[in-house]
Amino acid sequence: MTTIPVALGARSYDVRIEPGLLVRAGAVLAPLSRGRPMPIVTDTNLAAHCETLVASLAAQGIAAPVRVLPAGESTKSWAQLESLTDWLLAQGVVRSDHAIALGGGVIGDLVGFATSILKRGCNFVQVPTTLLAQVDSSVGGKTAINSKAGKNLIGAFHQPSVVLIDPQVLDSLPQRELRAGYAEVAKYGLIDDAGFFAWCETNAAALFAGDPAARAEAIGHSVAAKARIVAADERETTGTRALLNLGHTFGHALEAETGFSDKLLHGEAVAAGMALAFAFSAQQGLCPVADAERVAAHLRAVGLPDGLAAAGVSADGATLVGHMLHDKKMEGNTLPFLLARGIGQTYLDKTVDLAKVAAFLDGQRR
Ligand SMILES: NC(=O)c1ccc[n+]([C@@H]2O[C@H](COP(=O)([O-])OP(=O)(O)OC[C@H]3O[C@@H](n4cnc5c(N)ncnc54)[C@H](O)[C@@H]3O)[C@@H](O)[C@H]2O)c1
Ligand SMILES: [Zn+2]
Repeated sequence: MTTIPVALGARSYDVRIEPGLLVRAGAVLAPLSRGRPMPIVTDTNLAAHCETLVASLAAQGIAAPVRVLPAGESTKSWAQLESLTDWLLAQGVVRSDHAIALGGGVIGDLVGFATSILKRGCNFVQVPTTLLAQVDSSVGGKTAINSKAGKNLIGAFHQPSVVLIDPQVLDSLPQRELRAGYAEVAKYGLIDDAGFFAWCETNAAALFAGDPAARAEAIGHSVAAKARIVAADERETTGTRALLNLGHTFGHALEAETGFSDKLLHGEAVAAGMALAFAFSAQQGLCPVADAERVAAHLRAVGLPDGLAAAGVSADGATLVGHMLHDKKMEGNTLPFLLARGIGQTYLDKTVDLAKVAAFLDGQRR
């Protein structure tokens, strides 16, 4: 078992990574349960994994009522939040209890937010089942639902009590979802760890083929990177945590243009967005052209989009910049951009001229 601490003072917790951990989860969670039930919230695609978890808890004498929600982003809604909190209250949850989020980022974000407000805050455990959730959304305490005005606009910072990662659950994850989550893995290399990006270039094929060692290394390295960044800037106030948004401003515009739909998954938009952030940095003379080309080549090699055309977006620069302006990271009249001086050398630039971004995007259309 690999244990990675997330050091946040009184809110510190461990991320435990081990193949087969779901089968042993009951023993790991028993000290948290202290004889109390642990309600599980999951989605319709996770029945088999849920059965494993329930059996593991039952073996420790822990009752685990299950709430199965519809799979998909639309579950991060006010309506689902209301019915979930009603259900948790009906289970008799008290503040010292722990609910379990078994699923991808959708379930994790919803359960995290629900438990942040239930009885003014109760506890929760993350058992992430997508690569994206294992390397990104389950760690760091950002929780949210979506509103009519946009994604993730209603939420809270609420840290889990522990995160249990079983890489074997990825065996049932569709390849496209695995690839989308991989974009966030490569992101950690591009942010500040050129050595890890090189590792990705060498080992991505093994990871996609299901090699357990490659998966464990990718997940462990990513979680350690996220834990380090979150510990330095829990609430995204100093700029360090903002580095995690590499590729997300360009990516957000692509997601908005494709209607936040299955046409382009979040990780796919982030991949194209990272390629665009590097290409823009190169065009502005900030970063070697060879580095931007290397980023695009790696994303192409794993089957992720490396720009506008590959993402299926044909909108012009002004339209895409218009989408960016609706981004919640807008500060006054400027939009902070994550640009690069090279692979592993990302920085936050608050002085980017949006007209230059629009002109660059026009030049990227094919
Ligand atoms: N809180 C954060 O810090 C943070 C960070 C990044 C993303 N997010 C949020 O995460 C969400 C996206 O998360 P996601 O990509 O995990 O999406 P998701 O939760 O919708 O899961 C993707 C799909 O895979 C299915 N699935 C999950 N695990 C499976 C498994 N092991 N086997 C088979 N199918 C499985 C799900 O049912 C779903 O259909 C977005 O709402 C995004 O806003 C949050
Ligand atoms: Zn992301």
